[in-house]
Amino acid sequence: MSKPQVFVTRKLTNEVIAMLETVAHVSVWEGDTPVPRAMLLEEIEQADAVLTMLTERVDEELLRRAKKLRIVANMAVGYDNIDVAACKRRGVTVTNTPDVLTEATADLAFALLLATGRRLTEANRFLLAGEWTSWSPYLMAGQSVYGTTLGIIGMGRIGEAVARRAAGFNMRILYHNRNRKEEAEAKTGARLAGLDELLQESDYVVLLTPLTEETRHLMGGREFALMKKSAVFVNVSRGGTVDEAALYEALVSGQIWAAGLDVFRQEPVPLDHPLLSLPNVVALPHIGSATIQTRDEMARLAADNIVAVLSGKEPLTAL
Ligand code: DGY
Repeated sequence: MSKPQVFVTRKLTNEVIAMLETVAHVSVWEGDTPVPRAMLLEEIEQADAVLTMLTERVDEELLRRAKKLRIVANMAVGYDNIDVAACKRRGVTVTNTPDVLTEATADLAFALLLATGRRLTEANRFLLAGEWTSWSPYLMAGQSVYGTTLGIIGMGRIGEAVARRAAGFNMRILYHNRNRKEEAEAKTGARLAGLDELLQESDYVVLLTPLTEETRHLMGGREFALMKKSAVFVNVSRGGTVDEAALYEALVSGQIWAAGLDVFRQEPVPLDHPLLSLPNVVALPHIGSATIQTRDEMARLAADNIVAVLSGKEPLTAL
């Protein structure tokens, strides 16, 4: 019997390709931009497995062409790029990469919280522009972090890891989640709150929920209006969870103080996006889990899932 085929949609390490080659023929899109849709649709016809990124849409159109496909292994914890129900209907396994990216993503969320509250990127631009002419009492004065209140929306693994970091900053921690997380409460002292209460009381609001039909535009005009004028909003989930026009209004009108954004509705975010014109926005190019070690682990986990399924075993992290 001929070896199965795996298509990998981005260049990964030789180690990961070698893992896949133990069970399959592997072809890789070598470009550093997303594989063109037409090529993906062509490759998928022969593929028994595909290792995808969040830049690939796995939908009905693709699945119709995928006659042999057994597994879609997404190299991300989020999977809003995949029509999971359609995959399940066709018996195609879907896997993601939870756990291995938890601490790196929590580090980035906290770094963004600090950078936004303390105006780090704005201060850096100010210095480089030669505007630093003297020390002055309120020069680049930001918002305190230590001892303030943090609101975490979406208390999954990453939310809990952010809460652990916040405990070190002596923060009072509120969280909003579909269900109560008693273990996280015990470890971090976090307290479950309604969304409105969390928004009203928090100095920092960190959004970490996955993007689903329920969470689309979870943060809109009404929600920003509930926040304190001195509050900082941080989004490390998906751009679609926020009504960006409402966020822009809230920032311009002083309804909230600043925003740290690792994600945008459209990525890469266009340079003429209104949010990028604001001094009180710290914008990052979706690098939540981007450490070399974490990306290596994510790729290895995605490959392990494919090797398992193509060897007739249970995948490690199926949805
Ligand atoms: C994820 O894993 O969902 C991140 O957004 C990409 O690293």
